Amino acid sequence: MKAFIDFYSSLNFITVRQNIDSHNFISSRHFLYSKLGVPIIFLKDLEILEFGPGGGFNATVTSSYKPSGYYFVEGNIAGIQQLNYFVKTRRVLSEDIKIFKSEFLEFTTDKLFDLVIAEGCIPGQNDPKSTLLKISSFVKNNGILITTTTTKSSTFSEILRVLYAYLIKPNFESEDLYRNFLESEFSSHLATLGTNTRSIEDWVLDNIINPTHKNGYIFSISDVLNTLENFEIQSTFPSFEIDLSWYKNYTTSKDLNSNALDLQLIRLESLLFDYRISYKDYFDIPLKTLERQSEVINRVYDEVFKILNRDTDTLNLSKLIFELKNLCIELSSIHRLTIGSISDFIEFLNSTDRKNYKFTSFKSWWGRGQQYLSLRKVT
Ligand SMILES: C[S@@+](CC[C@H](N)C(=O)[O-])C[C@H]1O[C@@H](n2cnc3c(N)ncnc32)[C@H](O)[C@@H]1O
Repeated sequence: MKAFIDFYSSLNFITVRQNIDSHNFISSRHFLYSKLGVPIIFLKDLEILEFGPGGGFNATVTSSYKPSGYYFVEGNIAGIQQLNYFVKTRRVLSEDIKIFKSEFLEFTTDKLFDLVIAEGCIPGQNDPKSTLLKISSFVKNNGILITTTTTKSSTFSEILRVLYAYLIKPNFESEDLYRNFLESEFSSHLATLGTNTRSIEDWVLDNIINPTHKNGYIFSISDVLNTLENFEIQSTFPSFEIDLSWYKNYTTSKDLNSNALDLQLIRLESLLFDYRISYKDYFDIPLKTLERQSEVINRVYDEVFKILNRDTDTLNLSKLIFELKNLCIELSSIHRLTIGSISDFIEFLNSTDRKNYKFTSFKSWWGRGQQYLSLRKVT
């Protein structure tokens, strides 16, 4: 099975549609890229290559100051059609736009680019390391690569939503009824996040139905650092706290920078687990506690995957319920709300009528699913 492409090709539209005229969408894209050290206004006259643009919704903002070149590599026909429409209607702007219908690993060009983008399409690949290496090979010296990562903690709440859907599925006579039900249930979960620039239909298809997630879709910041030789981290979002490099004695800050980041990843991880954590008590939690928590989170995550990949006939949830209870005990005071949400999910698992179970505090639990990274190619 080809990750992403097989599923997207089975639909005749792209599931990452955004309302490109929404102020919220446009300003959040500017905010994100500025945080990554690549303000969109600075992209004027640069050459950009984007992998997996979907329909090019993000590119409508990335290209707003008219880069001199904008090349796209996309394997999905519906995405390419949407992208062509944006080019024709001048919503994606550049004098030199080229759209390649290609599998990432098969793409070739002699050109190198100032900025290479691969958002939301490395974790989940059958071979994320080779894909990242291939994508990074198109960056000019001193050029920038923007990509995204995931961790078990950041995707934990979403994987429980996948499990919920999996467990109630046998109650539905048709796929349509099942999807409609999920849309209606999850709309109240998504509503807790406030303004949403994506449709619920797309979200359910992309995050719940998409079988890519069943293969495990973890590719973390550490994985990126261990894969790329000639790149140093410029920025992450959410950002890490302390960067120990110092420009006056700069040789290459890759090691210093990566080491500093590695040491802080465990702290970052606990923030990724639940976006509701407040910074107030956060720094009082000892690193050892966070490390232990992270081990338990990873173990329970793996247990959820074992269930998702099992036949429903042989289901036994008692180990998972035990592990989730154990997780609630391990979590520190900063995770008070998370503990409430997990307890709600345990009640769902124990319910004799799971389809009609109504979530309460689980609805508002979201991890910071995807992290963003910008890296500079060093010589
Ligand atoms: C999850 S979507 C992300 C879209 C967009 N970058 C975003 O962040 O909203 C992933 C996109 O990458 C494309 N894609 C994923 N893997 C691919 C591959 N190996 N070759 C070509 N296209 C691929 C999919 O067709 C899809 O359009």
